[in-house]
Amino acid sequence: MPWPTIRDTETFALIEREVERQNSTLQLIASENFASPEVLAATGTVLTNKYSEGYPGKRYYGGNELIDEVEDLARERATALFGAEHANVQPHSGANANMAVYLGLLQPGDTVLGLRLDQGGHLTHGSPVNASGILYRFVSYGVTPSDERIDFDQVRDLALEHRPKMIVAGATAYPRIIDPAPFREIADEVGALFMFDAAHVAGLIAGGVHPNPVPYADVVTFTTHKTLRGPRGGCILTRAEHAAAIDKAVFPGSQGGPLDHVIAAKAVAFHEAAQPEFTEYAQQILANANALAEALASHGLRLVSGGTDNHLMLVDLRSFDEELSGKKARLALDRAGISLNENTVPDDPRPPYITSGLRIGTPAVTTQGMREREMREIAFQINEVLTHREDEGAIAAVRDEVANLCAKFAPYPQS
Ligand SMILES: Cc1ncc(COP(=O)(O)O)c(C=O)c1O
Repeated sequence: MPWPTIRDTETFALIEREVERQNSTLQLIASENFASPEVLAATGTVLTNKYSEGYPGKRYYGGNELIDEVEDLARERATALFGAEHANVQPHSGANANMAVYLGLLQPGDTVLGLRLDQGGHLTHGSPVNASGILYRFVSYGVTPSDERIDFDQVRDLALEHRPKMIVAGATAYPRIIDPAPFREIADEVGALFMFDAAHVAGLIAGGVHPNPVPYADVVTFTTHKTLRGPRGGCILTRAEHAAAIDKAVFPGSQGGPLDHVIAAKAVAFHEAAQPEFTEYAQQILANANALAEALASHGLRLVSGGTDNHLMLVDLRSFDEELSGKKARLALDRAGISLNENTVPDDPRPPYITSGLRIGTPAVTTQGMREREMREIAFQINEVLTHREDEGAIAAVRDEVANLCAKFAPYPQS
């Protein structure tokens, strides 16, 4: 039977409108980016048709000779890019990658140290509503009240007190460099494994502007769709001694057939990230974040930790306007065509679905070719919206300005 001849205009009309939205509004969500046409093309190929449970050379299905080559290429490129001994490119997402590491290296009930969720940790770092927090005993460390940076004295004290089986570093909303060296020292002192979740900063590491955790960590997990600018997915880098346990935990431990079209797109993304232009891209992400942070501060917005040295910043709205929650601010900015997310700030008095802060990131706007000048313009427009958030006329004016700006930098102009 052939495929139906009637085109699904409903779905494709929605996709076209989403292309238009991405082309004409500002994407400042720190975990988002614009994948290249080649990454998108690889994702939309017939590789989606294939079943290939197992690993190259050890499949449970026939017809995988080319899929083996694709997966090997992705694995080789991932290990070369980060200097790792082994890569598993099959995790469907960052959350799956993290859960596979726990499954492979821990027993249920084992103690793990991770960053507090309300101070930048991820759900998979021990949230009570996530399988990580249900299956393992997570103990959380935080940031110092004075400089709002990871409190390594606390990490060490907690490690000595709780003797964790694993220490997890990495964050979803932390604006500073995470130095892997002190984590390794503390892990060695208490005989713990060390996992670095580089979901957010993988592209900054690949681009050489953030320290590479691979020489320090037993396992590094990351997502391929954030600063790395690849397809939506996850990846695990391990030392050779953990390779078999991790591979087994991904398949058959926690996933079925791999997404071969996405693995091909990961191979493309690793290739792109190995090019010299990617270093320039990573440098510009940081320069843009810095320019945006400085400009926001000049409008009277307080930045958690006083600024940023990665791709994101956290704005604490309390001193700007006590009445303005992160959620209210995000909704007003959405109406103006500026997409970002509300986020807790350290010791936030508001719950996580309201919050007192905003998380703002520069990976996507940097891909579009925007630079420091545009960051100052964006800060101005954000301040306009926050200051005149009840004034729909002012919001419409910002929306027009945003559309004008985006028209000059549309990521997908041919679509
Ligand atoms: C630090 C960290 N780990 C893991 C994840 C999970 O990634 P995914 O959404 O692909 O499951 C995220 C996603 O935001 C993250 O920030």
